[in-house]
Amino acid sequence: MDLKRWLDGAATAIADWQAGFAPFTAHPSLQVSDEQLAGVFAEFTDRLGAGNYPYFHPDYAGQMLKPPHPVAVAGYLAAMLINPNNHALDGGRATSEMEKEAVAQLAAMFGLPAHLGHLTSSGTIANLEALYVARELSPGRAIACSEEAHYTHARMAGLLGIPAVKVAVDERGRMDPAALDEVLARGEVGTVVATAGTTGLGAIDPVHEILAVARRHAVRVHVDAAYGGFFTVLAGRADRAGLEPAPWRAISECDSVVVDPHKHGLQPYGCGAVLFTDPSVGRFYLHDSPYTYFTSDELHLGEISLECSRAGAAAAALWLTFRLLPPDRDGLGEVLAAGRRAALDWAALLAAGDGPLSLYQPPDLDIVSYFPAAQTLSGVDAASARVLAAGMNDPQDPVFVSTLRVTADAFARRHPGISADAGGARILRSVLMKPESEDRVALLHDRMQRLAAG
Ligand SMILES: Cc1ncc(COP(=O)(O)O)c(C=O)c1O
Repeated sequence: MDLKRWLDGAATAIADWQAGFAPFTAHPSLQVSDEQLAGVFAEFTDRLGAGNYPYFHPDYAGQMLKPPHPVAVAGYLAAMLINPNNHALDGGRATSEMEKEAVAQLAAMFGLPAHLGHLTSSGTIANLEALYVARELSPGRAIACSEEAHYTHARMAGLLGIPAVKVAVDERGRMDPAALDEVLARGEVGTVVATAGTTGLGAIDPVHEILAVARRHAVRVHVDAAYGGFFTVLAGRADRAGLEPAPWRAISECDSVVVDPHKHGLQPYGCGAVLFTDPSVGRFYLHDSPYTYFTSDELHLGEISLECSRAGAAAAALWLTFRLLPPDRDGLGEVLAAGRRAALDWAALLAAGDGPLSLYQPPDLDIVSYFPAAQTLSGVDAASARVLAAGMNDPQDPVFVSTLRVTADAFARRHPGISADAGGARILRSVLMKPESEDRVALLHDRMQRLAAG
């Protein structure tokens, strides 16, 4: 698609819509001439160019970052020109409907039999909502999450005034169900948070086993699938991109799930989602808003969310994207499968072990972890930092990866041969979120090997 054509199409469509209302003159205080804008726009775009890494390029394989799909950009722009607010139906009539439809597609993706859900401004806020409901349902009881869970769970539990208990992980960074059983036997926990795709390694907690343990103790389960959630469309797929289905299928029996369309859903930032399997939890959101909710008795999304104002444009962009690339096997599935194959290919090259880099652990999703050869952990740490910096700062052929700090214990469980002379080490990590990574992996691997060889 030609983005410029559709940006123009968005502006034209909204101008045509506006032309159907009585004409008025824009206030002089708001007027900016094209010449004035040209004066600062060049500086602005220069700063954007000089001050950013090339997140769009497959040689950027650092953090969980990539530009939104052009369809989402066109959808966001069109709706943003109206700037609806999905708090209340009177503020975001069309986009609230779009949000409900897009959220229903997410619910169908996870196979939820019933749902109550909405978009949020981020995965953190979506998880906060799930933990808020967890607290309301079991006041005073803790949440339990793995040692590898996103750092915000403990922070949000603190904010909600409930304890957060850490559960040990196995040698692949997944929550250990036996350790969970011991924690739950103490009777302090009301909700377990399972992570379907950890931030560091993309590890998938065994949601099905966690669910069985939790139910034995009459404890709720929330799934943080902020990063991994869309990979559910690859569950049970027969080819090599396919994922073991059991953890994904179990999500439909859990109590809530969070997924971030601004990660693998091709959306711009400002788009997380939380879904509950019991719609009656909506009662915990009951509040009075004397200034809104007056045009309709239908559900206003503000009635079931902690946030007040939210961008209707985020819902519009997601809705439009899902019309063309739906969250199923043939739509987003093809995008995710390419990233997954890229990770498998790179892992195979690393595992072949014919250079200075070694695979840290096999990838569960599209995140590859590896480290430069060294005798000691401090040697691994220093070499990782050097390789990262050398790649980023190469003016001719830059390559961008990230580092991940792992503990000495976690490292030793995977690679016992390296002397633990420090409490932990940075290793290298590549997030292969872009489907274009698949064709680039051999080059990236070769480039990183040469950097590691010094
Ligand atoms: C597993 C997981 N949970 C939660 C979050 C937080 O999401 P956000 O950055 O959208 O607030 C992240 C972010 O990377 C994540 O990977």
